[in-house]
Amino acid sequence: MFLKVKVLFKYHVNNIANGIDKILPNFGSMPILNKIKIKKTSKIRALVPIMPKIKNSLIIFLDGIFTISFLENIFFYLTQIITRLSVYFFLNLTSKKIFEKLFFIAHIYNMNLKKVIVLGNLGYIGPILVQYLRSLSKNLEIIGYDTGFFQGCLLNPEHNYDRYLSQQIYGDIRLFNNKILENTDAIICLAAISNDPIGDIYEKQTTDINAKSSFDLAKAAKRAGVKKFIYASSCSVYGVSNNDAKNESAELNPLTAYSRSKISCEKRLKELINNDFSVTCLRFATACGYSPRLRLDLVLNDFVANALINKKIELLSDGSAWRPIIDVNDMSRSIVWALNRDVGNTPFIALNIGKDDWNFTIKDLAESVKNIIPNVNLTFANNSLPDKRSYKVDFSLFKSLAPNHQPIKKLSETIKDIADGISNSNFRTKDFRKSHLVRLNTLNYLKKHNLINSNLEWIK
Ligand SMILES: NC(=O)c1ccc[n+]([C@@H]2O[C@H](COP(=O)([O-])OP(=O)(O)OC[C@H]3O[C@@H](n4cnc5c(N)ncnc54)[C@H](O)[C@@H]3O)[C@@H](O)[C@H]2O)c1
Repeated sequence: MFLKVKVLFKYHVNNIANGIDKILPNFGSMPILNKIKIKKTSKIRALVPIMPKIKNSLIIFLDGIFTISFLENIFFYLTQIITRLSVYFFLNLTSKKIFEKLFFIAHIYNMNLKKVIVLGNLGYIGPILVQYLRSLSKNLEIIGYDTGFFQGCLLNPEHNYDRYLSQQIYGDIRLFNNKILENTDAIICLAAISNDPIGDIYEKQTTDINAKSSFDLAKAAKRAGVKKFIYASSCSVYGVSNNDAKNESAELNPLTAYSRSKISCEKRLKELINNDFSVTCLRFATACGYSPRLRLDLVLNDFVANALINKKIELLSDGSAWRPIIDVNDMSRSIVWALNRDVGNTPFIALNIGKDDWNFTIKDLAESVKNIIPNVNLTFANNSLPDKRSYKVDFSLFKSLAPNHQPIKKLSETIKDIADGISNSNFRTKDFRKSHLVRLNTLNYLKKHNLINSNLEWIK
């Protein structure tokens, strides 16, 4: 007799991107798996990435990919029961934390959506999100829509990281064809001019893309019957704070074109909601972590790259400034929460996304990197002063609303992921701040070579 189950094996998985290819040879070495015959392996690719790391554990999913043929084994009976209950089974349940992860997985796997559009999927967060969505549902139609500014900014250009999509559409959200919206359940808007330095130079375009066009697109989506609009906002809308962590009712103080564009869009999106159209604005902490389209203009990523490539971390301030950060995988988990949230009486919500104990000082971050990457020299600029851009954020609302979708990454894991990602690539550019992995450099390159104009439009 055969019982079909999906098996996700998370043993010695260091590099998510390499996924199952590296794992499969290890199957034989696990005693419990000796009797599992792998009939089909291709589909498992979609399941492997971004699942929480559970050391020495085995996760069994429902409905079949693998076939196990050991009748006598107690394990067989357990999997039978679990299949019927529509939940997942973990071996080596060693802590409460793992149990929580179990419920998190069980919850999101029931995602009840047919088609989502991810705007801005070819950036830093997009590939991780798409891979994650695919791991949760093989049937979900995932449409990527992006103008492709950073499509080539891959650490490993030979890998096809966008294979998890159902379709890639290239286009500018300023010229969006509303036909694409047909039969769509939800839109996730990541498309944006995504940092302060670019926003300072391209202020008008930042407003046009991040605020006006994103809002226009949401309006068109509502007309087309889309139910949910998820907008990637930013904690930078609070500006600076002293030592008090900003919650959602704190005064807004956007200091840059970028953060002004985010808050302007949030305000306008609020006007659109009704019983059939909800808006979730996710005010993300500063992102960090490994992505195939790694960005090195983000604080932790910069430290890891410098530590790994140049064996040094240089602080331009005294390091006392506070910065909330969040791993890209945890951002993706929060987006899945937003997709599935019961909008009930709150069709509009804007909330901080991160974790209270991931408010770090810059010095904490630098020291954490130094503790993990050997032989690194940490230096402070001469007469270094406090960085003016310091803020702490309160994430308690997110914790209370989404207890099963809280960030789960450890800082050490995030640092190792970035370091492994760089080590496993050919990227060794010492002057990495001048490389294509810094967003502004890539835009400058495209402009210099007459590929885009000063309005950030492709030149045909
Ligand atoms: N990375 C962070 O620290 C962070 C923090 C908070 C919020 N966010 C927000 O999350 C979202 C994604 O961030 P990211 O780090 O992946 O940024 P990113 O710059 O890597 O990706 C943004 C993507 O949007 C696309 N895009 C830009 N303008 C477009 C247009 N007019 N039409 C179509 N596509 C367009 C780009 O080509 C790019 O692929 C952004 O909205 C950003 O503001 C990011």
